[in-house]
Amino acid sequence: MKPRQIVPNVHLVGAVDWDRRLFDALIPLPDGTSYNAYFVQGSEANALVDTCDPARCRTLMEQLDELPAPDYLVINHVEQDHSGCTPDLLRRFPDLIVVCNERAKGMLIDHLHIDEARFRVVADGDTLSLGDRTLTFLFTPWVHWPETMSTWLAEDQILFSCDFFGSHYATNDVFADKHEVYDGAKRYYAEIMMPFGAQVLKNIEKVTQYPIRFIGPSHGPVYDDPGFIIEAYRDWAGGEPQNIVCLPFVSMHESTLLMVDHLTAALTNRGVAVERFDLTTLDAGELASSLVHAGTLVLGCPTVLAGPHPLAAYAAFLANALKPRTKFATVIGSYGWGGKTVETLVGMMPKLKVEYLEPVLCKGMPRVEDYEALDRLADTIAEKHQGLVPRNFADFNVCRPEG
Ligand code: FEO
Repeated sequence: MKPRQIVPNVHLVGAVDWDRRLFDALIPLPDGTSYNAYFVQGSEANALVDTCDPARCRTLMEQLDELPAPDYLVINHVEQDHSGCTPDLLRRFPDLIVVCNERAKGMLIDHLHIDEARFRVVADGDTLSLGDRTLTFLFTPWVHWPETMSTWLAEDQILFSCDFFGSHYATNDVFADKHEVYDGAKRYYAEIMMPFGAQVLKNIEKVTQYPIRFIGPSHGPVYDDPGFIIEAYRDWAGGEPQNIVCLPFVSMHESTLLMVDHLTAALTNRGVAVERFDLTTLDAGELASSLVHAGTLVLGCPTVLAGPHPLAAYAAFLANALKPRTKFATVIGSYGWGGKTVETLVGMMPKLKVEYLEPVLCKGMPRVEDYEALDRLADTIAEKHQGLVPRNFADFNVCRPEG
C-alpha cells in the first residue's frame, strides 16, 4: 500500500494488520488493527510522526521509499507497536533526529537501546518548525503510558494522538466511518483507557484548546469528524453509570447457571438491563465494554477447591485492573460443601469503589429459598439503580443517524 494522503503533504503511512487476533497476548482483536505513522512534508524539513510495530517495519520502509527523507522522527509514545521501527529508521537515515520528551527518551533507551546522541528533547507546548508547517507537542500522560504526548500540526489542524482516540479496527479507508468504528473505538477505550478516565478527561480538555479538523490516531482510521470521537470519549470517561447489570459467569454443573438465568429474568422483570458473558468463551473486550456503563457487576461463580472458579477470578482481576465507575457489586453461585469464594473475589477487587450487595450462595442445586434470595437481590439492585441514569443509547447518538 502506498502512502495515503490526508491533506496535501501530509500522508498516512504504516501497516494495516488485518489478521492479528491478539494484542499484548491479552486483548482479542476481532477486527484486526493498524499501526499508523504520519509523514509531514514541510518546505524546509520533513517529519515522521511515530513508526509501527516491529513486525511491520518492512511495510513502513517501502512506503518511505515513495517520500522524501525525514529529518525528524517524532515519538509520541514508546510502546513498541509505535516506536518499534525506530532502530531500523535510525540505521536507514543516519541524520534522523528523534524528537520526544524527557521521559520517553529514557524509555526509548531502556526498551530499544537508542543512542543518546540521536535525541532532541522537547517540553510540553514546544514547537518544531518544518518551514511552512509547525508541530506543537502536547503532553497527554496516561493515554496510554506516562510519557505519552500528542502532536498538533497547526497549519492543517491535525492532532496526531497516538493511542488516544484509537481503535483496533483494520480498514484501508483513510477516514473513519463512524458507524463502523464506534464499537471498536469503545472496546479500545475500555481495554486501554478506562483505568485512566480522569486523565482522559483532562487530556481532552487540553487538546481541544487547539482547533482540530482531523484526529490521526495510531490505531484505526483517521477522524475527519473529530467531534464524534471527542464526544464519545467524554461519555465513556465521564458519563454516569447506567441501569445495567454486567453479569459474567461460569457454571460447572449448571447450578450456578440456574441462578444466573433466574436473576437475569428477575432483573429484566424489574426493568434492569442485563449484559451476560459466559466466561468459558469470553471476549475480554466485550466484558470491558460492558463495564464502561454498567451500574452493577454481578459475578456468577461456583466454588472450586474452596475458592472461586479461576475464570471468575480472571473476570474479577480484569474488573479491578480496569477500574470502571460501576457503583455496586456482588457474587452469586453454587458450592459443594463450603469455601471462601465471596471473600476471595472481593479481595481481588480493592480498586473498585463499589457498595457490595448481599451475595447469594447456595449449596448444590438452588432451592425455592435460593430463588427467593435472588428475587430479593433483584429488588435491591432495581432499587439502587433508581438513582442511576436509565439505560440509554445516548452514546450511540453521537454516531447513529437520526430516525
Ligand atoms: Fe498502541 Fe500503548 O500502544
